[in-house]
Amino acid sequence: MPIEIHSQKEVDAIRTSCRMAAETLMLVGEKLRAGMTTEEINAIVHEDTVRRDAYPSPLNYHGFPKSVCTSVNDVVCHGIPGSEVLKNGDIVNVDVTTLYKGFHGDTSATFYVGTPSAEARLATETARKALELGIAEVKEGARLGDIGAAIQEYVEAQGCSVVRDFVGHGIGRKFHEPPQVKHYGKRGTGDRMKAGMVFTIEPMVNIGGWEVDVDPTDKWTVRTADGSLSAQFEHTILVTRTGCEVLTKRPGTLRMSENVASILAM
Ligand code: MF3
Ligand code: CO
Ligand code: CO
Repeated sequence: MPIEIHSQKEVDAIRTSCRMAAETLMLVGEKLRAGMTTEEINAIVHEDTVRRDAYPSPLNYHGFPKSVCTSVNDVVCHGIPGSEVLKNGDIVNVDVTTLYKGFHGDTSATFYVGTPSAEARLATETARKALELGIAEVKEGARLGDIGAAIQEYVEAQGCSVVRDFVGHGIGRKFHEPPQVKHYGKRGTGDRMKAGMVFTIEPMVNIGGWEVDVDPTDKWTVRTADGSLSAQFEHTILVTRTGCEVLTKRPGTLRMSENVASILAM
């Protein structure tokens, strides 16, 4: 399957889905606090999505049982919401994907619960900056490898590592479609970006090594192999002639709720 070049009309539809996903993620940021369970985050996302007449893309996606992924501490991605209680010092990535009128929008952020440790701050701030540097490479004519190289160079310079097993992805009528957007690699390699392509960039940054394991019981939860902390940020991006548009850009900073110093002014 080739990489889709979206029409103006399709881009407008994807933009709407992306705005919804971004707003739902903002809402989670406002409500998040220590003492809350990840199931409560799921309920917030589910209700805020369906009230928009949209559908939470993760729900039943290849059998995923919930409406959002919540990935705490050493969980890299695909954490399943449940009875786990968030406690002071935790970091939690909340990954929201919204399907509206046939198009998906996908975005995530890592939040601090209460006061973060130095390591939690390093993982989180490095992931956030890595996404920003990846986005800065996006422009018609540039190569996908340029994104991965920029991210890998920065993350490794901070003494952290980039997960290899999960990548960014094209998105539109399907949740995951070509191309694969690696968060590591070499400049000048990979497909050339063209205006109208839409894909995510979503680097997962580990404090320790890049190796990960999938939970053998639930077959979803991905953890760092060495138990180190992991953080992630994700945006859905439209390639343009002169650069890009961040379709899941948040209208403002993620608001802090009482006990949550949340991040993010991007
Ligand atoms: N939202 C994730 C991504 O960024 C994918 C989650 S798939 C699920 O690609 F099934 F776990 F929801
Ligand atoms: Co994604
Ligand atoms: Co996502």
